[in-house]
Order: sequence, then structure tokens, then C-alpha cells
Amino acid sequence: MTNNSYLGFFSLLEDPFTLTPDPAYYYPSGDHANALLSLDYIMNNREGFCLLTGEPGTGKTTLVRIFVNKWQEKAEIALIMTPRLNPQEFLEAILQDLDVIYPLSGNKNDMIKEFRDFLLEHAGQGKRVVIIVDEAQQLPDDTMEELRLLSNLETEKEKLLQIIMVGQPELFEKLASDNLRQLNQRISVKAQLSHLSETATADYLITRLQKAGARSAHLFDQSAVAEMHKHSKGIPRLINLIASRSLMVAYLEGKPLVQERQVIIAAKELTQQEQKEQPKPKNGTLFWRMAILLVALMAAGVTALLILNGTLHLP
Ligand SMILES: Nc1ncnc2c1ncn2[C@@H]1O[C@H](COP(=O)(O)OP(=O)(O)OP(=O)(O)O)[C@@H](O)[C@H]1O
Ligand SMILES: [Mg+2]
Repeated sequence: MTNNSYLGFFSLLEDPFTLTPDPAYYYPSGDHANALLSLDYIMNNREGFCLLTGEPGTGKTTLVRIFVNKWQEKAEIALIMTPRLNPQEFLEAILQDLDVIYPLSGNKNDMIKEFRDFLLEHAGQGKRVVIIVDEAQQLPDDTMEELRLLSNLETEKEKLLQIIMVGQPELFEKLASDNLRQLNQRISVKAQLSHLSETATADYLITRLQKAGARSAHLFDQSAVAEMHKHSKGIPRLINLIASRSLMVAYLEGKPLVQERQVIIAAKELTQQEQKEQPKPKNGTLFWRMAILLVALMAAGVTALLILNGTLHLP
């Protein structure tokens, strides 16, 4: 079964519920809009550090993409999406992203000097430079410290660099730890994405359906939205998964409107699929478990034989 068949059935030009963080499908919930304002604020006011946190699937990377689209003409942007890097690799990734030419010797002082010159030159032209780190909860502590040191690059009057750290809630907890306290104190703007309310979930579905070219954006009735909100807890990625599957169920039943029933079936199928995908014990683990069981059985057998023989006497 291809998606195309059900897209035609619902008069959709494309799949409204893919899992890619596509800015074209952006729905500005209260939280998302506020977070974007916070990001703009640090750029406009040349604040040093901003933190954006939210549970998985709440739309952090989507917002980052929207922000990049918005600022790419007015700012030089280094976007680090895979931050499991040591301090040296991290610095190199930033310089490469910004097209800063640095000596091949890899000498850190030389690299910082080139970077500072680059920042001063851009500040002179009134152009912002921003580093965005997505999945920042994965940054090793010493790399976080490197980031803090970079934020020291400033003139007497202003910060030369804006830094945006984006990550899951554990980032918040990580920053509260003793060794990162100094960095935490520098974060002047903190934004958070939480779950969508039921009303926002309904609007979210309508927005995405409209953007996918739906003739009627009301493909989910109120009972379907309520059920969807219950199962997804208002997390956009889960809404997408359930909505997509619900449309498929409705299509297979020949129903032009998705109701509670189809959402319940879709959510159940997804849960079952998730359970199937749970990691099974590895073969190696299974082997050792079987081996231990076998040894235990043999030991029990030998003991029983000795008792029967009268060689072993139990107290
Ligand atoms: N405000 C929004 N408008 C439209 N779609 C959204 C919105 N927020 C999230 N989504 C959708 O939800 C899905 C997950 O979004 P995204 O990848 O941005 O989440 P995330 O917070 O970065 O997750 P993770 O913590 O796993 O990286 C994507 O399909 C995205 O399009
Ligand atoms: Mg993300």
C-alpha cells in the first residue's frame, strides 16, 4: 500500500504528516512563537547565550531551521547538529562552518586568533555571528567549557558572538550541575517548548492539512482530535505518527472523516509496532543465559545422583 492511494482519497497533494522538521509546515503555537521571539531577542540585543529546551519531538529542530532561514542573510551562522565532539573537533567544526581559514597546524591559539579577527571584522560590518548547537545535551562537559570560553570573545562594548544551545530537558539538568555552573550563569535567555493543548492540537492538524493542499482541512472530527491528544500528549512528532496512521485506517474503511475509532486503532497499532521494535536480548546474552541454566541443571543432576548413591548426605 503506497501513501499515494490515500492521499488521492483525501484530496491531498502530499503527505501532511511526515517526520522531517520542515519549516514549510510550521504551526506557530504560543510556545513556538515565544521561543522564536527569544531567539530574535538575543540577536537583536547581542546577548551572549540562549537556551532552548523541550521534550523529544516538540519542534526544536523545526524552530532552528525557521530561525536559520530568517537570519541567514543578516548573520553568519555555524550550525552544529552532531555535538559529540571534543573541544578541538568542536572548534574546527565551527570554523569550517563559518568558512574561517585557520592554520593547518591545528594550534588552538592560532585558531582562536583567526576566529577573533573574523568576529571583529563582522562586528565592524554590523553583521551578527551565531553558533547554534542542536542536541546540545550530547555535548561533553569539556566541550561545553570550550563554548563558554568562546563566549568570552567580546569588546568592551559588546559580545562578538551569540550562542544558542538547543536540547532535551536533560540539558537543563546538566547545566545545573556544579562543574557547569559558570556557563549556566551566563545564559540570559531561556525558552522552553511544551506539549500542545487539545485546541492547539486541532489547529496544528488543520495547519498541516492546509499546507498539504487538502480541500477540506477538517478531516478529523472533535472526538478524533480528543483521542489524538490523549495518545500523543500533544507532542507534534507523535501527533504526526498517529494522524498519518489514522488517515490510512479511515481510507481502508472508506471513511472520508476520521473519528475516534480510527485514532484508537491507529494508536494501538503504533504501540504494538513499538513493542515489536523493543531491543531483544542479544544472541550473546542469550548464549550466556542458556549456558548458566545448563550448568545449574547439570549441578542439580549430579547432586541428585550423589544423594541417590548415598555418597552425599544432607543434614
Ligand atoms: N510548531 C510546529 N509546526 C509544525 N510541525 C511541527 C512543529 N513542531 C514540531 N513539528 C513536527 O514534529 C516533528 C518533530 O519535530 P522536531 O524534529 O523539530 O522535534 P525536536 O524537538 O527537534 O525532536 P528531538 O528532541 O527528537 O530532536 C517534525 O515532523 C516536525 O515537522
Ligand atoms: Mg531535534
